[in-house]
Amino acid sequence: MLLGVNIDHIATLRNARGGVEPDLIECAKICEKVGVAGITTHLREDRRHIKDADVKTLKTILKTRLNLEMAMTEEMLKIALELKPAACCIVPEKRQELTTEGGLDVASQLDKAIKFVKPLEEAKIAVSLFIDPGLKQISAASKTGAEFIELHTGQYAEAFGTESEENEFQKLKEAAIFAQSLGLKVNAGHGLNYENVHRMKEIPDLVELNIGHSIISRAVFVGLEVAVGEMKQLISL
Ligand code: PXP
Repeated sequence: MLLGVNIDHIATLRNARGGVEPDLIECAKICEKVGVAGITTHLREDRRHIKDADVKTLKTILKTRLNLEMAMTEEMLKIALELKPAACCIVPEKRQELTTEGGLDVASQLDKAIKFVKPLEEAKIAVSLFIDPGLKQISAASKTGAEFIELHTGQYAEAFGTESEENEFQKLKEAAIFAQSLGLKVNAGHGLNYENVHRMKEIPDLVELNIGHSIISRAVFVGLEVAVGEMKQLISL
């Protein structure tokens, strides 16, 4: 299983003082040194953490892949087609939310999703749709032309260690198997941490996990290189 590190929180910390520290590029380089498969950043509509200049610089300096998380808007489509990151993960976005709260409702906006995905895939950008592990959303995602889905692991992460853990875990596992049977490649992410991540190895053929908050939080105490290395170790098969 591959590890993509979401570095939005480095930008949040940087923006708190308006300067350049901690440096996003140095952060990405350390992640790459440890051997991550890619760097993920969410360019939000309100630019609260990652800025346009950040994604441009990252695209230039990264030796691995840039995964651009973005909302399904005309503005973001234009930016992605100009930037040409290796991958785009389409997420729902609400201005007031602290982080992405739920999966994209592909089923209720299938035509819009098809039109959105097409130019990106034509530009050789691997598109992933961030969705909840429900069969309806997966069926819809398989009709959009996107190569990947990213399963929202937030419910599982919240249930971890409680009596609903197994139920939430099985939803993810069944969703992954169903998606793969429809020809989709499957990533997962959101809320994964050093305690709950190990069960992702029980899900067959997951390609990549995208993890941000837990890694950056741990990095505060042990350093980024160690924090990323530990997570990489935990998910290696
Ligand atoms: N995947 C997606 C689509 C996300 O929106 C986020 C949060 O930005 C993550 C993964 C990473 O989640 P976390 O920061 O909880 O690890």
